[in-house]
Amino acid sequence: MGRIIAVANQKGGVGKTTTAINVAACLAKKGKRVLAVDLDPQGNMTSGLGIDKNDLGYTVYDMMTDQCNIGECMLINVFPNLNVIPASRELAGAEVEFVGMEDMQHILKNNLKKVKSKYDFIIIDCPPALGMLTVNALTAANTVLVPIQCEFFALDGLSQLIYTVNLIKKKLNRTLKIEGVVFTMYDSRTNLSAQVVENVRENLTQNIYNTVIPRNVRLAEAPSYGLPIIIYDPKSAGAEHYMMLADEIIENDIVTV
Ligand SMILES: Nc1ncnc2c1ncn2[C@@H]1O[C@H](COP(=O)(O)OP(=O)(O)OP(=O)(O)O)[C@@H](O)[C@H]1O
Ligand SMILES: [Mg+2]
Repeated sequence: MGRIIAVANQKGGVGKTTTAINVAACLAKKGKRVLAVDLDPQGNMTSGLGIDKNDLGYTVYDMMTDQCNIGECMLINVFPNLNVIPASRELAGAEVEFVGMEDMQHILKNNLKKVKSKYDFIIIDCPPALGMLTVNALTAANTVLVPIQCEFFALDGLSQLIYTVNLIKKKLNRTLKIEGVVFTMYDSRTNLSAQVVENVRENLTQNIYNTVIPRNVRLAEAPSYGLPIIIYDPKSAGAEHYMMLADEIIENDIVTV
């Protein structure tokens, strides 16, 4: 039975896409069957996985507006064991187009339902907003993975995200769970990162992954080569830590429905 994980935090630039790409790639590397879904009009997951955004056929937008079926927009074996549903700028218009559509919160869920049994993990990269795209991701998901950047305002907005998750649980997806919080961009040279981690650990009741993702320049470079870190630089600290996170995610028996 597969697990659908939405990588979400409405705060921008906290490491959602980096985490979604690399968790997906590390799970695939470990032999899991993985589908990565780009649900952000910025399309950073798409390009970070080496897919040319200017040369796309059908995308997640076409699927969600009923212009193609899920098989038609899916790219197969982009990396071994890793299929991808790409996103383009057009997706930005989807929020408006959904209005009035029947069951608009369930569009993604209804599509993923058709393929879920073929995967061990489906990883959804969410945009930095709590709009209808993220609502669709949270409605489709079994769990939410929340990246938190190790910086002073780390917890800003987290209560709003947790509030939204609880609302979705009540109204749309009774069994949704918080998979866990993962710290990103940890800088061991400063006290700040350590203080943030300590402070959040004290104040959060949610599961927090033991693996902390370090700030690592190789992680920032990899997307411009269209490669996940385990292929771009498998010996880097970034690769090592995302592999450890993938292990924790596999072991996390929180799920599934
Ligand atoms: N551990 C890391 N070490 C170094 N750079 C990182 C790390 N994680 C992410 N970055 C860089 O920080 C920037 C923001 O990361 P990313 O795009 O993953 O965040 P995001 O939450 O998806 O952003 P958005 O909200 O815009 O979608 C990117 O340039 C990325 O390469
Ligand atoms: Mg992103």
